[in-house]
Amino acid sequence: MHLLVNIDHVATLRNARDEGVPDPVEAAQICEQYGAKGIVFHLREDRRHIRDDDVKRLKKVVQGKLVFEMAATDQMMDICIDTQPHIATLVPESREELTTEGGLKMKKLTERFGTHVIPRLKTYDIKSSLFVDPVEEDIRLCAEVGAEAIELHTGMYANAEDDRKQDELMRLKEAAVLARDLGLIVNAGHGLNFFNITPLLKAIPHLEDISIGHALISDAVFNGLGNTVQRMAKIIESHNTHTNGT
Ligand code: PXP
Repeated sequence: MHLLVNIDHVATLRNARDEGVPDPVEAAQICEQYGAKGIVFHLREDRRHIRDDDVKRLKKVVQGKLVFEMAATDQMMDICIDTQPHIATLVPESREELTTEGGLKMKKLTERFGTHVIPRLKTYDIKSSLFVDPVEEDIRLCAEVGAEAIELHTGMYANAEDDRKQDELMRLKEAAVLARDLGLIVNAGHGLNFFNITPLLKAIPHLEDISIGHALISDAVFNGLGNTVQRMAKIIESHNTHTNGT
């Protein structure tokens, strides 16, 4: 199992001022330096966080797996093929959503994915991973259209109240076993954090890539904030001491 870090929300913070910091590419380098086996980014149609130039820069510096999350539009397919990531994770996307809200509804996509999207990615040696809910029909269709992997949507498990958590975990487990039996690599992501990760890893030992973003970037704000404020407070205090002393 490998941790892949999604750095989209470093870009969200950067875009709030649009002055270049914090740089998601620098974040990617730090994540890899401290144990991430790869980096995930989602280039959205509205470019609300990661932008085209970030993609080019990430491609240059990421040493481990580079995962390009995207809606399978013609424009994104072209950018993905130019970028040559290791994996393209295909997700549904709508402009109004705050974050990806669910897995691909495979029934509607079978024709296009099977004849166009996945064969085209394969031609360029890019593996496809399909982001799906733990639903048997969707998983069977992922295998049918020729995807190499699925990413199980763990959002329902992550957001479930305590009395529903175990049921959601079992749904994920059954789906993961089915996917493996169909020859698919099984990845997982969405809503994972320090509290819900361990039961998932225990329930599904054959997970390959675990993609985590928001919880890690949020935790990093608090874990780093104390040090950062201390550093600035010291500069100002030492300036005070210096000025008072003259
Ligand atoms: N996997 C997919 C397909 C996603 O859309 C997202 C959110 O961008 C993630 C994983 C990461 O989710 P989170 O930010 O909640 O960890």
